[in-house]
Amino acid sequence: MLDKLIFDLQEKAKEFWPDFQYIYKTLYSNSTDKDLIAVIETINLFYVERKTSLKQIDEIRVNNKNWHLDQKWIATMFYTDLYTGNIKAIENRLDYLKDLGINYIHLMPLLETREGQADGGYAIKDFRRVNPKLGSNEDLMNLIEKMHEEDQIIAIDFVMNHTAKEHNWAQSVLRGESQYANYYYIFSDRNIPDQFEKTLPEVFPDFAPGNFTYQPEINKWVWTTFNDYQWDLNYSEPAVFNAMLGEMLFLANLGVDILRLDAVPFLWKKLGTNCQNQEEAVLLLVAYKYLINLVAPGVLFKSEAIVSPNDIIRYLGSGGYEGKACEIGYNATLMNHLWHAIACENTHLLRTTLSKLPKIPASSTWINYIRCHDDIGWGISDQNAADVGQNGHETRLFCSNFYTGNLPNSYAQGYFFQKDKMNGESRISGSTAALIGLQRALIENKKEEVFFAINRFRLLHGIIFFMKGIPLVYAGDEIGHLNNFDYLKDETKKEDNRWLHRPKMDWDKAELRLKSGTIENMLFNVIANLAKKRKKLSCLHGNAEENLIILKNDKVFCVKKIINNKNLVLLANFSREYQWIEKIDIPIFIQILNYKDEINGCNISFPGDSIILPPYGIYWLSDNYDFKVESKIYTLNIDVSTFPGESVYIIENNLTLPRGEKPRQLSCYWKDGVGWLVEIEQKKGSFFSYNWVKMYGNEKIEVSKIQFFFPT
Ligand code: GLC
Repeated sequence: MLDKLIFDLQEKAKEFWPDFQYIYKTLYSNSTDKDLIAVIETINLFYVERKTSLKQIDEIRVNNKNWHLDQKWIATMFYTDLYTGNIKAIENRLDYLKDLGINYIHLMPLLETREGQADGGYAIKDFRRVNPKLGSNEDLMNLIEKMHEEDQIIAIDFVMNHTAKEHNWAQSVLRGESQYANYYYIFSDRNIPDQFEKTLPEVFPDFAPGNFTYQPEINKWVWTTFNDYQWDLNYSEPAVFNAMLGEMLFLANLGVDILRLDAVPFLWKKLGTNCQNQEEAVLLLVAYKYLINLVAPGVLFKSEAIVSPNDIIRYLGSGGYEGKACEIGYNATLMNHLWHAIACENTHLLRTTLSKLPKIPASSTWINYIRCHDDIGWGISDQNAADVGQNGHETRLFCSNFYTGNLPNSYAQGYFFQKDKMNGESRISGSTAALIGLQRALIENKKEEVFFAINRFRLLHGIIFFMKGIPLVYAGDEIGHLNNFDYLKDETKKEDNRWLHRPKMDWDKAELRLKSGTIENMLFNVIANLAKKRKKLSCLHGNAEENLIILKNDKVFCVKKIINNKNLVLLANFSREYQWIEKIDIPIFIQILNYKDEINGCNISFPGDSIILPPYGIYWLSDNYDFKVESKIYTLNIDVSTFPGESVYIIENNLTLPRGEKPRQLSCYWKDGVGWLVEIEQKKGSFFSYNWVKMYGNEKIEVSKIQFFFPT
């Protein structure tokens, strides 16, 4: 059979062909030689058509197989129409993205879609044609070329689970023709659908209940997992395998670097199951991966599988195929557990869940993200919740209620999405700014709350920029897009509140990033700074070892990275209070006095037995401390009111002092119109804490109840 392959490919194919054939036969036991020959013909066709310039890129990547593990990649994602209107105009925004540190753009569905409701483009009418409203195939190819020149990469969606009802194949079925009748799951009555429904969950119960849709034109039922106009493809048919291979290779040949494989858990159906995460769905991806490696080895697969933590990992290859399916996967587990941790100001569940996850294959990596265009589902398993003494249902309920602002201490302003009417659990929609409390703080004009919200933003992003994977910043988050209600005016969108967090990019607001002191400026700089710092730190390469460190203090999350004898430690305080952690709890590296916080790029000293983290504080600590850094005299304004005749001094706090060193006691002086002041010498970047003491003559009148902190 191999001799039917183009000569150039035969040698390479030999390596994996037996494996491929085995998988193919497992999936398609009823297939014939003719089916396999059709697959080979597809391969030949697209290999011949692949441009030389793309083949050159392929070769570079084959020689540097793990190119995607480089810490330099920083991603964003957006809908072209909402971001710039069309594909050509994206070119004008590449500099903006560069300033932010972005070099990987995921363009949300941009192929020709049906008119009217189209699930944000995830209802494709023609896989081979860019949506004319956004431009042409040439525009996309030009953009890609331009981006490649700048060492930027591009991902597009391959919506492989379904087509729009308006796709040619589906239209042919609706005309009663037989050619594509087996491309979809079509039933003449409710008998089989009803049997399936017994074990099938619903993805959009509110606006698309059930998994099958009646088609009056043919008097039949069609499988529609998502909306009634999205027809599930029948991958148990060899003809569908081959047809979709063709569509996939066509897109690969436009020059895209990454195909985001949409909704992969749903690809294989089996009666009596929930028809998600079937073993065959993974095998299908492995089979496709073999073939794409043959034709376009520079192109990677990114799986969109927002399912339970253990299932997500399977799409990176499992059951003997580790590392042979998708190179990249959405890290939904990290995402939703981070949101949980920050809501309850406790990292116990986060770190327990992460520590129980199997290691991902060495050649794979994550997309680490906080927000994307979809809702947030609480993929918290009952078992993991039980392991930290919680009830899974109650924990998920807590998350739904916290993020919709339905708990007394919640600052979030999200909305329920597809709430389960039986148990009250709900996925949620809402922009990052709304979920971290920024929206509310701005509306209520509470400065202190704005400060907390920005720190939450920094904390969450500081973590996704640190953990193994490619960090992804959801476009617009860097300027604090709030919830947007324009979608309610659009008939085709108004039922789906995910549009709340899919607004048009506000370029006027983006301009404010250049004005110091604005929210936009602060948020933008948080991201730009994290991106800049990440790119320089070899410890953040995907090959680095990553170890979770369990601290006694549950409010602080700690992870250590090691590569080539270099260490970097993440410390992140999930609470709105100062936190102390004992150095003794952390590995040897940390039991020193002086560090460099790589995020701020400055020295930081914790001379005592503890490390102190401010509210929602985050450090990336390395031992690159610069001993040349000088001390400086700082003037502190002490917040204390006094009566005439009283004097004030401060006492340095034990917790910030090296063992055995005596606290300093310093007298303050009064300055009219300003208050009590004191001068203190500190190394730049060090931490200092103190209590004030009020005296009348030699008599101690009062000592401050709280400790004050002075990070230099
Ligand atoms: C994916 C997309 C989502 C879409 C669904 C159906 O999950 O991210 O937006 O609704 O697939 O295509």
